[in-house]
Amino acid sequence: MIAAMGYENITVDVEAPIATVTLNPPKVLNALSPDLIREINLALVELDADESIRAVVLTGGPRVFAAGADIGDMAERTAVEQLRRDQTGRWAGIAAFSKPLIAAVNGYALGGGCELALTCDLIIAGDSARLGQPEINLGIIPGAGGTQRWPRTAGKYAAMEAMLSGTPVTARRAYELGLVNKVVPAEMTIQVAQRLARQLAEKAPLAARMAKEAVLKAFESPLAEGLAAERKSFYFLFSTEDQKEGMHAFLEKRRGVFKGR
Ligand code: CAA
Repeated sequence: MIAAMGYENITVDVEAPIATVTLNPPKVLNALSPDLIREINLALVELDADESIRAVVLTGGPRVFAAGADIGDMAERTAVEQLRRDQTGRWAGIAAFSKPLIAAVNGYALGGGCELALTCDLIIAGDSARLGQPEINLGIIPGAGGTQRWPRTAGKYAAMEAMLSGTPVTARRAYELGLVNKVVPAEMTIQVAQRLARQLAEKAPLAARMAKEAVLKAFESPLAEGLAAERKSFYFLFSTEDQKEGMHAFLEKRRGVFKGR
């Protein structure tokens, strides 16, 4: 069943066990507005709470992912206004989504658009994708994670090049840098991402949640702390029905059916 949940800047197609969130703001090239980010946050909170949903695809559609924040809207803003709006601080909700979140990126993913993709857990890029942080050309720097997530993923030198030159990288280059999981023909991007989402949705949901948490922890903590957190989650999963089901299914040579219990 496909249900629409009534947002103005995004559409949410629910086709359990996956959902697809598509950016659909009224302005050109999916310029990211506070309302758009608020709606993505709201949708992800709803989808996180919905037990029938196990993985989500986030896409800008067939032509463009998002060309960043609306420059017309930002041009005359003061620092105090920016701080009060704390637009980029509100992205924390997107990073807090507990289920696998896959970006399907076609065309430009620039500035906040690129940062939005990098906040996801996996990225499927169409061959038309261009990922970049052009903020330097506007006299600012990325403010929604770009300076932190690029070096953690692509390394210092690629990150410096992206931040200091403002020049976007092609999908192929992004793949070489380890910024995206896969490059596919642009007309296939969303479909490939949805197929991947369905595959991930078959896995044990609690294990997926803990695996995601553990990998993200690697970006934020010293090794010993990350290993300790991983071990705790590993032991905890032995208290779940899904662990019993997964191991018995293996021994009985059948496919496990996981309930997130
Ligand atoms: N904000 C506002 N309008 C934008 C926009 C943006 N980020 N990106 C594109 N547009 C508008 C253009 O002004 C143009 O409008 P008109 O048709 O009214 O003239 C329309 O979209 C189409 O753009 P172009 O004519 O420039 O199309 P193009 O194909 O030649 O180039 C582009 C496309 C490379 C995306 C180019 O528009 C561009 O460089 N855009 C700016 C991208 C950018 O700097 N993003 C970072 C913003 S800052 C940020 O994102 C910070 C943050 O969130 C934390």
